[in-house]
Order: sequence, then C-alpha cells, then structure tokens
Amino acid sequence: MIKYIKKSRQFIIENDDICYSFYLTKEGVLQHLYFGKNTKELNIEAISNLDQDWSRTYFDTSLNRESVYEDYYYAGRSMMEIPSHGFAEKRGSQFIIEHHDGTTLTDFRYVSHHIYKGKPQLQGLPSFIDDKEVETLVITLKDAHYDVSLVTSYTIYKAHNAIIRNNTILCNEPHIKVKRAYAFSLDLPKNNYQLMHFPGDWINERNEVIEPLNHGLKRLYSNLGRSSHEQNPVAILIDENANQDHGECYGFSHVYSGNFAIDINVDKLNMTRVSMGINDEQFSWLLNEGDSFVVPEGIMIFSNKGIEGITQTFHNIIRENLINPQYVNKVRPVILNSWEGCYMDFDTQKIIDYIDAIDDMNIELFVLDDGWFGKRDNDTRSLGDWVVNEKKIDLAKVIAHTHKKGLKFGLWFEPEMINYDSDLFREHPEYALGYSSKERALSRHQFVLDTVNKEALDNVYNQITKILDKYTIDYVKWDHNRNVYDAYSHYLPANRQGETYHRLVLGSYELMDRLTKRYPNILFESCASGGGRYDLGMLYYMPQVWTSDEMDPMERLYIQYSTSRIYPLSTMGAHIGKHKTADYSVKAKLSAIGVYGLELDPRTLSEDEKKTINGVTKLYKEIRKPLINNGTLYHLSSPYASNFMALMSVSEDQEEAIVQITSIKKETIKYRFLKLKGLLKDALYENTYDKKVLSGQHYMDIGLNLSRGRNVLETDLIHLKVVKKSKE
Ligand code: DGJ
Repeated sequence: MIKYIKKSRQFIIENDDICYSFYLTKEGVLQHLYFGKNTKELNIEAISNLDQDWSRTYFDTSLNRESVYEDYYYAGRSMMEIPSHGFAEKRGSQFIIEHHDGTTLTDFRYVSHHIYKGKPQLQGLPSFIDDKEVETLVITLKDAHYDVSLVTSYTIYKAHNAIIRNNTILCNEPHIKVKRAYAFSLDLPKNNYQLMHFPGDWINERNEVIEPLNHGLKRLYSNLGRSSHEQNPVAILIDENANQDHGECYGFSHVYSGNFAIDINVDKLNMTRVSMGINDEQFSWLLNEGDSFVVPEGIMIFSNKGIEGITQTFHNIIRENLINPQYVNKVRPVILNSWEGCYMDFDTQKIIDYIDAIDDMNIELFVLDDGWFGKRDNDTRSLGDWVVNEKKIDLAKVIAHTHKKGLKFGLWFEPEMINYDSDLFREHPEYALGYSSKERALSRHQFVLDTVNKEALDNVYNQITKILDKYTIDYVKWDHNRNVYDAYSHYLPANRQGETYHRLVLGSYELMDRLTKRYPNILFESCASGGGRYDLGMLYYMPQVWTSDEMDPMERLYIQYSTSRIYPLSTMGAHIGKHKTADYSVKAKLSAIGVYGLELDPRTLSEDEKKTINGVTKLYKEIRKPLINNGTLYHLSSPYASNFMALMSVSEDQEEAIVQITSIKKETIKYRFLKLKGLLKDALYENTYDKKVLSGQHYMDIGLNLSRGRNVLETDLIHLKVVKKSKE
C-alpha cells in the first residue's frame, strides 16, 4: 500500500480507491503531488509545477554567491507537504516554532524514512486504532537551520479512503516554543470548491452550511477549550462538479477535543490549502533540550462518490477503528434518563416509581442524572464533591431495585468541573482554573477543574472510583457543562501558561483513560451541555454522545440529520422527550434513528402513549444491530434544503433497510417518489408503508410512492426486507 520509488524519489500511499503522493526534491523538501482517486496513472513529470524563474534562486553563504535550486522547489508556489514558516511561503505554515534566538523560521528537510505494517498509537492522546491491514510511512526531517526535528507519518488502511497524519516535534536546541502545531496541511491545485461545515450553538448544534470558497483565508475554529457547540471540528470540500452521490469531495478532522483551527486558504495561484490542528490563538508550548511534542492526529478523507462517500468513510472508520473495540458490534441499550423528567428534584421513592412506571416498556438501562451527590439540589453547588447525598437518595436501594427489574443502572458525573460552593473548592481553591483577580469567570455557577494539576486530577479520580467500586454501575454519563475561558492554571509557571488549554485536554484524556480502562464493562456516554464535545477524540474513549439538549422534535431533526453527516447513528444519543410540538409516535420514530431512549417522567405517560412508544421500541430493537449499529447511511432529502427530511440505512447484506421520513411543514397533496439507495437491484423487497413488493431497481430508479398530503412533522419509519432474492 505504501511505496517509495527511488528513481523519482516519489512516495506513493494508496489503497484500491485513493492515492496520496509527494516527492523529495534534491534539496530535501517534501513537495506535494496529488491526493485523489487512485488512477494508477500518476505521472510525476506531468504534474503541474510553475515555470522556473528568479524566485528559485538563493544566496549560498558557504560559496558567497547566488545559486539555483536544482529541483522544482520554490516555497512560494510549489505544492508543499510541510509548508515552511518565515520564508517565501505565505499560504499558511503547518508549524511555527520560536527558536532560542528569537526567530520563528521553520524549514524541515528530509533525513530518512521507513515503512511498516501497523499504525502509531499515541501516548496520552486518542488515535485511530491499529489493524491487520494498515501501513505507515514515517519520515524524519530536520530543520535546515536549527536543531529541531520532525517525525511525520502517513497511515493508510486498506478498508478506508483516508490518510491519517501524525507528527512529533523533537527539540535539540537549548529551548524552543512551539507556537503552531497542525496535524496536516494539504495543497489542492484548484480553487472552485464549496465548503460544507457545521457551525451552531447550544441547543442548535451542527447546522449544515454550504458556502462557496473565495480567495482569502477562511478559518473554522474553537477557542472555547472544547471542540464546541459553535463549530464542529470538521470541514468538507465539495468539488464544483460534485453533489450528494457523485464527484470529488474531501473531508477533514482530527482526533482531538480542544481548541482547533481549520484554515482554508485560496490563494493567487488558484490553489486551496487546508490545514488543521490545535488552534494557535492561545497556544504555545515550551520544549527544553531533549523534549518532544506530540501533535494530535489528523484525518484527510477523499471520496469520488460525493458527500455521501465522505460520510460513509467517517462512519466506517469511527465504528471500526476508533471507538472502543468492545463496542464495535455491541448494540447500545435503550435508556430512560431522569434529567428532563425531574431535573434535580427527586428522592428515592420518586426514582423507584420511575423505574416501576417503565415495567412494560422494554427499557434496558435507567440513568440517574445530575443531583445525587453532595448538596446538589440546584446547579449552584457541589460539583467536585462526588459523595452520595444519602439524605436525598438511597443509591444502593435504587440500584438493587433497577437490577431486580432486569435493567442496567447508570449514573451522571461531571468530573472536569468544580463549584465554588463545594467542599473541594473550599479546601483547594487552586484546583479551579481562573486568574484570582477581582472578577473570576463563572458559567453555570462553576469553574473548570484544573486537570493540568495532577493532584486535582487524582483527587477527583479517587472520589469517582470510590463510587464506581462500591456500587454496581453499568453506565456513566460524563458531562462537561461550560466553555473554558479565563484559562489560567495556578499549577503552571508563567512561561508555560500558553500550554494550559492543551494540557487541560491532556489531563481530561488521562482521567478518561484511567477510568475507562479500570471499568471496561461500564458503558460511557459523553455529553457537554448536549453536543459541545462531539468529536473524534471523545469517541475514542466513549462510544456514544448525547447529541443535544434540544429535545423539541422540530429542532432536533435538523441536529440529528447534520450530525449523521459525520458521526455514525450508533454514537448519536436520541431520546423521546416531553415537548408537545409533536406526539409520541413522531418523537419515537425520530429517536429510532440513533441511540434510542426516553427522557421524561414515565409516570405521566398514558396507556395509549406507552403503546405507541412500545410499537416503535419493538421495531427499533429489530433494526438496532443491522441498521443502526452496522448499516450504511444515505441522506436522501435534506431538511436544510427542502420541506422533507429523509434518511435511509441499509444493512451490510443489503437485504434490509429502514427509511425515516419527516415533513417539516404541512403540505397539501403532492407527488413524491422518493428514490431509495443501496438496495440489491434484482431482489424483491416488501415495505411496511404501502406493503408493496417491488424490486430494488424499482425503489432506486422510480422510487417509493409517497404522494399524498402531510401534516406538520408527520414522520414515517418504513422498514424494507427482502422477500425474494431475485425477480425470477
Ligand atoms: C447538561 C446535559 O446535556 C443534560 O442532559 C443534563 O445531564 C444536565 N447537563 C445536568 O446538569
């Protein structure tokens, strides 16, 4: 899959579908050639390089005269693998390093390389997981002027159309400050792309936006200490000739949960450069002689099957090579979460009544959300005091009751936070992040726990393990309810304050790593005021995420639709709530395309409502493994572009599919034939909508006939199954 052609000094990283290539100039610079479809016809000589001109010359100090670069190289114009900083290159550099003499020049040149079967696993950082069919090219480079080295690597899986990038900076100078550390930089010799990205807000996460890219720099970013509600760390470039299913697209992300930047620069050469990594806005990292810095891992995806090809690669690589292997083929339990039902207003009896009320509802896991610890009756206090509030709840009794009813039991934590009204803060004010000035930044009455401080981290770890060791807990909801600002660490010296944001993420990862490894049988779900930390970093530790706090189906359907552009359905928490915008049939059908559950007071449900929900739960359990866990997802109709949302998931053997359809506004009678995708052309499928038996070809070429009037939020879940494998 990876080869080096000595004659042309060319590296080729390929699988059946994609090819990534660059070559080594005589000057030892890595010059980019190509990333796209694997045509097997890549001709290095024929790949564009701009004409020779005076700009290829340099002053050779050792010879005391002007010399000319022998090769194609010119930092200002060539396509670059590792763009330098401070020289002619002005399109955005991958690394900025302040050297001990104060300059910020970086110019990495080739030293050696090797290729091996396997994939790097990072110390202290999440990363895609090794596999049998994966190869890595590791290149060591050294700065042309300074004693700083870079070990950069390219990994390719046989099964995924993606290139995974890793980088480590090694310092042999007395000291340096890393001021920018990106995972990758990709030069595409074209400028007419559309950009798809996912900006948002709390209860309005991941809006799907498509906009043309024009000349200049566009930065997608978070500087809020987590990947954020405001901008999901993903960008998709759509070629001018591409669409949902056809044409060339590129997808980008990284395996990280903190501040990020995606810089997309369209320049005077009509070239598009995409670079991504830790946001350099509030970042610097001091390295002393002998130290190294590991950059979070990046992923670049290519698809010539349109946007859906990007989605499918994201889904497959997340499901197969990112989440904890023990969940790859395990279905997620159906949940009842207490939060929207009673918030923090509960006692033992109320919780037992909740559990009794779902006796006949096929729920598999009960989750006691916020409010069970310290003196936590409202959100002003007790984060940091992870001790059961025995006056309020008899946890042992509730857990025993839950288990007796055949349900699993889950508990909420918010480990990375601390209230000022907590015993932990009273004893250790230095555990809270934030400058001790007159006004310290609070949000939801809480500070961020300084996970840079090992003592603070151990303290919380020990408190949590006491609970998890004492009680039989099957699931943990791991919340994170504020943005990180006022990011001053009392633990770090002045010359390392620029490291706070990244060190906080590393501290959080350490906490997650220790807890998830110590309790391999606990299912962890990540949450950050809903979907404020939905990223590849969190998915490495926790295989499912609470998608959004927005439970109003009218809003939620948009959030789920665009979330599923990137993240698999098996990661996407989707609960039936109490909003009156739609009835339970609609709410349940919307939740069924995700990690299904309930989040309401079950005592308020009438027998009819329970019956309605139970019908969908039954179907959900049938489709959960083949279609929610393992299916291939198709976005058939976008609510962002029409009055109609349609998603479809097809099983691996293509013999079964589920189609979810929702009309947003009311419609009078309209013709509508919905063309399905991914079915076997010759097989006959019966559908549960009009009970017709039709060939896959008919469903895909002519469509499912949905012509009729529809109501606001009317939702159908249509299950298709093969009844005969061929038309004959
Ligand atoms: C925010 C989460 O998104 C909610 O589901 C709930 O767990 C609350 N936090 C609890 O404080």
